[in-house]
Parts: sequence; structure tokens; C-alpha cells
Amino acid sequence: MKNTFGNHLSITLFGESHGPYIGAVLDGLAPGITIDHVLIRHMLTLRRPAGKTGTARVEEDRYEIVSGVYQGKTTGTPLCILIENTKQNSADYDKEGRVIRPGHADYTAYCKYHGFEDYHGGGHFSGRITAALVAAGAIASGALRDKNITIGTHILSLQGIRDRSFEDIPADIAYINEQTFPVFHPAAAEAMEQEILSAAQRGDSVGGTLESAVYGMEAGVGEPWFDSVESLLSHALFSIPAVKGVQFGLGFDGEQYYGSEYNDPIRCDGEGVYTTTNHNGGIGGGITNGMPIIFRTAVKPTPSVFVKQDSIDIDRMENTSVQIRGRHDPAIIHRARVVVDSVTALVLYDLLSGRFGTDYFMP
Ligand SMILES: Cc1cc2nc3c(=O)[nH]c(=O)nc-3n(C[C@H](O)[C@H](O)[C@H](O)COP(=O)(O)O)c2cc1C
Repeated sequence: MKNTFGNHLSITLFGESHGPYIGAVLDGLAPGITIDHVLIRHMLTLRRPAGKTGTARVEEDRYEIVSGVYQGKTTGTPLCILIENTKQNSADYDKEGRVIRPGHADYTAYCKYHGFEDYHGGGHFSGRITAALVAAGAIASGALRDKNITIGTHILSLQGIRDRSFEDIPADIAYINEQTFPVFHPAAAEAMEQEILSAAQRGDSVGGTLESAVYGMEAGVGEPWFDSVESLLSHALFSIPAVKGVQFGLGFDGEQYYGSEYNDPIRCDGEGVYTTTNHNGGIGGGITNGMPIIFRTAVKPTPSVFVKQDSIDIDRMENTSVQIRGRHDPAIIHRARVVVDSVTALVLYDLLSGRFGTDYFMP
């Protein structure tokens, strides 16, 4: 299914960037989960552009849950969230006609939908749709939090500027989830923001690498082979616009290690089994081992740049050039972080429901 993902908990996304509404349908939620509007609003705020590093299209993200909730709790039937689009400005795009924007889904959407697609602002492929993903992810995050499972993501590197990795994972997750610009080291945060601003002054954009941690997942969750924790998380992560790479544990850095160094030594104490390193990122054979799940996500530079680029007019089938107008972030990585947290929450909710049953999240 093109717009639906998940087994025991499924999410369907709908809407276009410049249509009246975007939204999500969650099917498979346990009955009785309290809808935490503070958390939903907080996560939507983290996704919204802010400050000098954000686009001028700042939507209020007013959402409405139109089904699946009664007296503040989930009923267990499909839950539909609607988010109104209020700041669309299609004139920015009409001026461009059918000139394809490099780095966007304009050409591929045209090939698939034969020109019937609403291309304004990227239509169904727009980063705007991630607001619905985050609202849905916030509901899953709230349910996971009630099971003492927390998720956090920071910018690990951007244009060669590097933040420190996770250290005290539960404290780091709590800290980073309060930051609109998610970087641990203040000097690294400052340098990254400067880099984004300087790219913006040149009409350009930057990307970077996110690092995520999940704390509190017990051992034994996940399926062998095709529904491994890595497979499902990657599937969901690659659905996020602008994500171009995912690695678990040491991932691609593993080539520098010998097997004797890469293996995580196993110990046990009164509390249970643990490993003294976590090079495998908390996953063995696709199944959680009880250590924190650690992964990285590569986010490409925002495709809408204001410098002139070669492209084509698809209606005339002529070579031309394009200079993007409209409102765009010089970097989206600091906003993408909460989208990463959201899809992670949805996948873990799904896997836990598969392991322990769909009523697992009932209070
Ligand atoms: C939260 C978020 C916001 C985004 N905002 C913008 C934006 O303002 N301008 C833009 O050009 N791309 C933005 N993108 C990225 C594009 O939507 C994406 O690169 C494009 O649809 C092509 O998809 P692909 O990069 O996965 O191939 C955003 C992505 C995310 C995750």
C-alpha cells in the first residue's frame, strides 16, 4: 500500500501541501490510551520552523482528532487526525509553471501520476505532510513513555561540525527533547547555526547526520528476517522526505574494526544481561537485546535553494533554468529530528503490539 505502513498498528497519510487539510489515520491503537495534547503540541512545535534558521512558512499546526477518541482516551477504533493548512501560497509555484525543481519529487511524481498530481509546494511529497506524521507519532510516543520507553535524536554532524554522541542516555534524551535546535554541545550548536545562516545568505542549504537513541526497550522484540527491527525502522525512516541514509550501531564505520573489537562483550549481574559496548546498536538478528537502540540518519540539504539551477519545462520538453521562490528552510535537519522520533515510536509500538498483543498499551 502506497500511503499505509505498519502491521499491528498502521498509519495512513493523506493530503497535499497546498490543499485544505493534511492528516493521518492510525488503526490498531489499544483502547484506553490517554491522548496527551501537551506532548502532541510539543512535538509539533519541534517540527515547526523557528528562529533565523527556519522558513517563513510557519503554520500554527492546529489539529483536530475527528474519530477514535472518547472522553480523552482512545476507543481502539481508527483514529483520524486532521491538520489545517493555513499558509499555502500557490502563486509562488504558479509563476514557475511546470518547471521541474531539482532535488524534489516533481519529475518522479509527474512520471507516476501523468501530470494529474497537485504539484504546488511538492503536493503529497511535501515536508509539510510530516506534521501529520508527527501528530500520529506523538500518540505512539505517549503510549511508549507510559511503558518507560523514551526516544531522542540530536544533530551529530553538519558540514564537518560535530556534536558529542549520547553518553547518559536517559538524561540526554530528556534534555534533547526540550531543545528546538537539538545539539548537546553549546559550541557545536552555535557553529552549526552559523553554518546554516551563512548558507542561507548565499541562497543555499545544508544537510547533516542525525543520531537517535531509544531507551527502555526490553530484549526479545522484533521478528527474524523481513520484519527485523532494523528492517522496519529503515522502512519508516526512508519514508521521511530528504532521508538518504540509515545505519545501526557502528554501521558503515564498522569496516575499521576487527570482529574481536566489534563484538559486544556480554555480562550479567543481579539486574539481568547487558553488553559492555553497544556496537550492534541494541539489536541482534533483528531482535532487541535490551541495550539502547542506536542509529543514525542522513538528511540531505534542503532541495529548494535560491541559486539558479539547470532544469526542464516538462510541458514544453525544453531545457531551461529555475530559480526557486517561495518559503524554504536553509536546513531541515533540526526539524526532521522529531519526524525521526515519530516514525521510530510508530514502529516500536507496532513491534511491541506484535509481541505482546494489541492490548499491551492499555492502562
Ligand atoms: C520536516 C521536513 C521539512 C521539509 N521542508 C522542506 C522545505 O521547506 N523545502 C524543501 O525544499 N524541502 C523540504 N523538505 C524536503 C523535501 O520534502 C524532500 O527533499 C523532497 O520531497 C524530495 O524527497 P527526497 O529528498 O526524499 O527524494 C522537508 C523535509 C522534512 C522532513
